[in-house]
Amino acid sequence: MPLSPAGTAVFQGAARILSGLLEARTGQILSEGRAWRMETALRPVLRVHGLQTIDDLAAQLLRKQDPRLDEDVVNALLNNESSFFRDLQIFDMIHRQILPRIQEERGERTLRIWSAGCSTGQEAYSLAIRLCNDAERWQGWRIEILATDISTAAIEQARSGIFSQMDVQRGLAVGDLIKWFEPHGEDWRANSVLRRMIDFRRDNLFDARAPSGEYDLLLCRNVLLYFTPARRGDVLQLLARHSHAGSVLLLGAGETVIGQGDDFLPHPDFRGGYAPKALASDRAGRPVRRAG
Ligand SMILES: C[S@@+](CC[C@H](N)C(=O)[O-])C[C@H]1O[C@@H](n2cnc3c(N)ncnc32)[C@H](O)[C@@H]1O
Repeated sequence: MPLSPAGTAVFQGAARILSGLLEARTGQILSEGRAWRMETALRPVLRVHGLQTIDDLAAQLLRKQDPRLDEDVVNALLNNESSFFRDLQIFDMIHRQILPRIQEERGERTLRIWSAGCSTGQEAYSLAIRLCNDAERWQGWRIEILATDISTAAIEQARSGIFSQMDVQRGLAVGDLIKWFEPHGEDWRANSVLRRMIDFRRDNLFDARAPSGEYDLLLCRNVLLYFTPARRGDVLQLLARHSHAGSVLLLGAGETVIGQGDDFLPHPDFRGGYAPKALASDRAGRPVRRAG
């Protein structure tokens, strides 16, 4: 299938239209590295919509005749990279330190977790696996895991619970695979216990409808990276609105709240975690200290 050669004026014009669509819909800015992979990412979209080149695709988008085309382009350009137990030490900290603290401080026996920008669900399933492996500790607790993402394709996959052999080999221990997944043709499917624990919903962080109320643990990892600083601030504000004094926010390894408004502070007790600032100062008997 002939594509407009990358680097030509036609390609660059089309690329601008496509990356403009991505930014308008999701807030994500295409990094140079991802812009180079645009052609490969869009190849299946061209095929499905019977188009020949990136230029044809851009022209078709401008005609605004097919909303599904917009959605397919946005889904294809989003970076959905994820894996089970990504950054294992974070999951260890959640398991050994954060969840026990939340359990200790929580007045009612309800644990609420929000995985914002959950992609195909590995993060939420990893949390569910750890909680299930620790079932005795959580006996009598109501556990709610909300997992949201803007990508309809990613959310569909997450909800199905189906993962390829390659996906499960990235981060999932063999014991957990055998215990919590079932063979599904050549793939694996999370069993119904895990699937029932997670509420997967399509949701745009800039048009958030899905979350309601406050969450004890909020994860928004590897999502802020491609937003402008102003948009990062907006997302942190949203996360703060769904936090309480004892909530913990976790971001990706390359992300920080520093310089992005004052909704969160580095958590005094959990390295790499963040505490809501306005609310944290109300925390009775627990002065908020900057990590450091
Ligand atoms: C790189 S993945 C990270 C997945 C997971 N949090 C992890 O760390 O493994 C980033 C996800 O953010 C989602 N995303 C990007 N912009 C978004 C927005 N405006 N609202 C909701 N999700 C968004 C993308 O669709 C993608 O699935």
